Amino acid sequence: MLILGVETSCDDTGVAVVADGSRVLANLVSSQIEHAAYGGVVPEIAARKHLENLPWLLPRALELADIELAEIEAIAVTRGPGLIGALLCGWCAARGLAWATGVPYVGVHHLAAHVHGALMPALAAGERISYPLLALVVSGGHTALYRIAGPSRFQLLGQTRDDAAGEAFDKVASLLGLGFPGGPAIDRLASSGDPEAITLPRSNLGLEFTFSGLKTAVRREALARSLRPGTPEDPVVRDLVASFQAAVVQQLVATTRRALQRHRVDGLALAGGVAANRRLRAEFAELASAEGLPLYLSTPELATDNAAMIAGAAYTRLRQGESDPWDLPALASWPLGE
Ligand code: KG4
Ligand code: ZN
Repeated sequence: MLILGVETSCDDTGVAVVADGSRVLANLVSSQIEHAAYGGVVPEIAARKHLENLPWLLPRALELADIELAEIEAIAVTRGPGLIGALLCGWCAARGLAWATGVPYVGVHHLAAHVHGALMPALAAGERISYPLLALVVSGGHTALYRIAGPSRFQLLGQTRDDAAGEAFDKVASLLGLGFPGGPAIDRLASSGDPEAITLPRSNLGLEFTFSGLKTAVRREALARSLRPGTPEDPVVRDLVASFQAAVVQQLVATTRRALQRHRVDGLALAGGVAANRRLRAEFAELASAEGLPLYLSTPELATDNAAMIAGAAYTRLRQGESDPWDLPALASWPLGE
């Protein structure tokens, strides 16, 4: 089944074509650089850029997949959660296209799609996913642990009390003048710093997360050491970002390990934009191997926001003949498994 996917929940415009839930024929993402000047996503600018991007990304994705619009059998689009103005751009474009071409459409939960993104490489290789799964979703807007009993059967075990992990990466990078988004910049720079050079606080909130104290501690260290913003060549800046990254990763891994002690599962998944982080990926691989569990990891392209995970996540419902009615609204807030 050929599904066209559309993702516009935040600042990335994504259009993809996916066959049978996991075989990616095209996966285009236009990341908006306009927000860098503001150090964060400006919702109005995001929506306007989606409107500019969709008309050229849609035909380009079909061309890359080497298929005609008439061959698309269904359309999947992010329904929420996200910035409502941004969501509505993809929501209206995708549903308009579904209406015009007479194919069914399905509205997808963005976080459930991130988890599907982590399963896609295994699914594409023909592996069977062993449920229940424990999934850590770490993105710019969310940090949450789920027990997943089967496709679409999510139970929220714990989430962040303040910032999301990706948001902490972005804010620390902005504080040190390292650019936006901060995650990739810190990931790169941390590899040349000493993760044990600077002592930063570690927290233990059971199955919940917190990053605001850590962020404040980084600010204090930067001030105490008179670090100048925009000096990635400074070895102390490198040590500070390496120590910060190690503290974030340690909290994510320790909390996931506690969840594994409380909930018996058959597999572990790491999803969301922060799952592109190399240190986090390496430590999750160690954790899974120590626990004797298969690890489901997205490729970096399927980890950060993209439309292939949206098209993939809609497959199970569409294959069963389900689709959504036309009067369904997009949702800025949409709890998952609570
Ligand atoms: O899932 P995503 O693309 O968008 C949301 O749904 O939020 O996640 C974006 C977040 C940003 O905060 C970005 O800084 C972070 O993922 N990120 C990373 C890396 N690549 C992206 N964080 C740490 N290391 C990375 N390599
Ligand atoms: Zn996301």
